[in-house]
Amino acid sequence: MKRRAIYPGSFDPPTYGHIDIVRRSLELVDEVVVAVVYNPQKENYLFAPQERLDMFREELKEAGDRVIYDSFHGLLVDYVERMQAKIIIRGLRAASDFEYEFQMALMNRHMKPEMDTVFLTTGAAHFYTAARLVKEIASLDGSVKGLVPPHVEKRLREKFAQRA
Ligand code: PNS
Repeated sequence: MKRRAIYPGSFDPPTYGHIDIVRRSLELVDEVVVAVVYNPQKENYLFAPQERLDMFREELKEAGDRVIYDSFHGLLVDYVERMQAKIIIRGLRAASDFEYEFQMALMNRHMKPEMDTVFLTTGAAHFYTAARLVKEIASLDGSVKGLVPPHVEKRLREKFAQRA
């Protein structure tokens, strides 16, 4: 039986920090499901779920079918159960992430005691990278080189050009 982990998030857009977490998760489990969250009622993301997944796919070609690309809405624990997994992966940057992540992990385990969240500390180079800041910088015409792959940078430029 393959050991499968779910890596959920907004990933709007995926950064080098997120991609690093997927690569490192693949050292620990057989399969990683990159699970982009969406809300059909309230779409306030910059990128559509499929675009966010395409950006991951472009970067993780070498992993082949060990990475599964999917999107979900509703409760994460229900999705994890549907995907027949028990492990949730989350990246941790600074201590400021910890309280929110700890609370979510405990809530999820309260709902499904058989599930566990595994935290991977972010790579040192990605300590300060956050999709929210990447979007803000790109929207103000700043450079996000080194924070996201070049094709993500290009998509960001295109999105904000459309909006201008
Ligand atoms: O990248 P993000 O935005 O920090 O990811 C947050 C995410 C998607 C993991 C979280 O919002 C989530 O699990 N959403 C699904 C709804 C849910 O299960 N909520 C209860 C959490 S205890």
